[in-house]
Amino acid sequence: MRQAKSAYWQKVVDSAKNSDGTPRPFFSMAPMEAVTDTIFRRVVAKAGGPDIYYTEFTNAASMVHPEAKFSVQGRLAVADGEEMPIAQIWGSKPEAIAGAAKLLPDLGYEAVDLNMGCPDGTVIKNSAGSDLIRHHDTAIALIEAAKESGLPVSVKTRLGFYRIDEYEEWLTTILEQDIQVLTIHLRTRKEMSKADAHFELIDDIVALRDKYAPNTLLQINGDIKNFKHGLELAAAHPGVDGIMIGRGVLEDPYAFNHEEKKHSLSESIDLLKYQLDLYDEVNNSVTPKHFEALKRYFKIYLRGFAHAAKLRQALMETHATDEVRALLAEHEDDLVRWEKEQR
Ligand SMILES: Cc1cc2nc3c(=O)[nH]c(=O)nc-3n(C[C@H](O)[C@H](O)[C@H](O)COP(=O)(O)O)c2cc1C
Repeated sequence: MRQAKSAYWQKVVDSAKNSDGTPRPFFSMAPMEAVTDTIFRRVVAKAGGPDIYYTEFTNAASMVHPEAKFSVQGRLAVADGEEMPIAQIWGSKPEAIAGAAKLLPDLGYEAVDLNMGCPDGTVIKNSAGSDLIRHHDTAIALIEAAKESGLPVSVKTRLGFYRIDEYEEWLTTILEQDIQVLTIHLRTRKEMSKADAHFELIDDIVALRDKYAPNTLLQINGDIKNFKHGLELAAAHPGVDGIMIGRGVLEDPYAFNHEEKKHSLSESIDLLKYQLDLYDEVNNSVTPKHFEALKRYFKIYLRGFAHAAKLRQALMETHATDEVRALLAEHEDDLVRWEKEQR
């Protein structure tokens, strides 16, 4: 087993075990803007979550700005009793990254991740995210700046900006910066999320890591569906330490379950109800949330239940959590019947 560079990451490595006690790769839920907030992280944890979580990305410049800092508080909010996620921050100014990272320990964070892969036009215009793949010196300065916090620093990036073959030089540069974890989303910026993830490059990237930074953990990301798929990839590519799953969780909130099993409709509806309760809690006490953003989840919980199409449609017309609850109550008998028919 690889020796991590910090106690935090060693703990992550050590606690990733199969039921028989043998080591396995650690699993994480990918940082996802407007998805992986304290609400959804707790929902996924209830469904049987991964070993580690990441926050949505947070703009370092806003965190250190006297007026803007309040606007990003919700992104970094962590509930009592919730497992502490890793804070992912983004920016292009070393002073802002250093300032933001230094705020994290007081908020309870134990690790910081730098976003160097976001393909979004606004982020790139700010010379951040995947734009850093074209500006190695800035990337190096940002990693140094984040280290001023004393927190273990990791980097999440892509293979290249335009071309796949950029990865060799780019990842070598990053690996030479003495970071804890390199998370590689196996696509270029240009490929966005459209092309298939380049699993064929995993062994080459493991070799780069072994050559330049044997104690940096390597986490792979892109198109990995669930726990079983992650284990298969790790077995096929020795040297991979971690598996990060993003959209797989939006397909199936149980994606991190170790045993694949069909979950009942009532289990799914219970998760939805839990999410509604957490939404209200956060909306009332931490930060206002957009109800519309909740709608992307309705289809997840009702997926695979053919009879639920009408209910799904009705849910899409709602405007408040109480309306959703009322609709679910109204359909309670139907839900029980659908579940029986499904068996
Ligand atoms: C809705 C959404 C929001 C995302 N937000 C972030 C983010 O804030 N930070 C980040 O590093 N990546 C972000 N990503 C990229 C994911 O972390 C991940 O790299 C990508 O989805 C590929 O993994 P997947 O195929 O498992 O989804 C986002 C992806 C999605 C779909």
